[in-house]
Amino acid sequence: MSLILGLETSCDETGAAIVEDGVVVRSNVVWSQHKLHERYRGVVPEIASRAHLERLMPVVQEALANAGCGFAELDAIAVGNRPGLIGSLIVGVSAAKALAWSLQRPLIGVDHVQAHLHAAVLQSDPSSTGSPSSPILYPALGLVVSGGHTSLYRLDGPLQLTLLGRTIDDAVGEAYDKAAVILDLPYPGGPNLDRLAANPDADPGRFALPRSLLGDASLDFSFSGLKTALLYAVRGHPVGRGPNARFTRSAAELTDADRRDLAAAFQHAAIDALIAKIERALDAGPDGGIGGRANGSAFRSVVIGGGVSANSLLRRRAGELEQRRGLPVRIPAFAYCLDNAAMIAGLAHHRHVAGDFDTLALPAIATTGS
Ligand code: KG4
Ligand code: ZN
Repeated sequence: MSLILGLETSCDETGAAIVEDGVVVRSNVVWSQHKLHERYRGVVPEIASRAHLERLMPVVQEALANAGCGFAELDAIAVGNRPGLIGSLIVGVSAAKALAWSLQRPLIGVDHVQAHLHAAVLQSDPSSTGSPSSPILYPALGLVVSGGHTSLYRLDGPLQLTLLGRTIDDAVGEAYDKAAVILDLPYPGGPNLDRLAANPDADPGRFALPRSLLGDASLDFSFSGLKTALLYAVRGHPVGRGPNARFTRSAAELTDADRRDLAAAFQHAAIDALIAKIERALDAGPDGGIGGRANGSAFRSVVIGGGVSANSLLRRRAGELEQRRGLPVRIPAFAYCLDNAAMIAGLAHHRHVAGDFDTLALPAIATTGS
């Protein structure tokens, strides 16, 4: 059995979790900084790193207490060391190094984006279902939808990812957050826009917003056109050019029904584009259509992760996709969609069994190629 402590400090959630054998979450503590950033309507990096510094060790103590275990029982220390805000990452990486060194335990640096694709197998209480979570069937098609990433991958194992497509402009979570600002909704934008769009009275067909598919074959994503179309639907087409451009209307003029229907139109356009790309990638097969499906090779499952996997319409559409395509579509339990340390500790298990550890020279890295 492996018992791994994971730390997550890549953005604005301070997280610590203890996970058994990569799947069973013994504790998962997330201290959200939303209140600190709310008045700025976005994450302020300096405030984020200072708050991580203050909260991380209390959060670790709470994770140990909730799991009913001590430092001595831990087999390894895992930390999300890439990608993210550099000041925030450094706090988690430094704490993980100090713990690993002082406890004489292996240190494992984990890619945050890869960890989102592990979240779907996590479960908090295996005794309630009576069975361990079923493993992911490979090759799997992975979709990460977060505030910083919108990417499709071919997965051949928990740690073997090949990038198939990515956003060429905004990430879908970022587009949600900007759309919420355009509609004058409170921070955090994504969940608030989702809640408004899911109102049973909302009419997603009243406003026509574009689904950008980038031609017939691309597996890349684009959300900036959708964002601009929403801006124009709310404020009218700008009059004049360059610095003299002026909008004719403002979000303050929207009625409640307008705001709700615009939110629903945005939500449907964004989620339709995600599902369309999943379908396109499934049709192409794991080898991208290069003899792939013709050779009988096909994806055996779909795995979704990242903050936007909490979205109500995406979750519904994922269920429909599973029925339509007849293959498992795995989406995390609600608690593991947004940034959390359980996914970090869970993915680290696979490096732990392989004896693949990092040294105390492990860097914090702000960006990755995916
Ligand atoms: O994975 P995550 O917690 O952080 C990053 O790694 O970026 O994702 C955060 C993103 C934010 O953009 C947030 O607005 C979005 O996920 N989000 C949602 C919902 N809940 C969170 N977007 C749409 N619908 C939601 N219910
Ligand atoms: Zn994330």
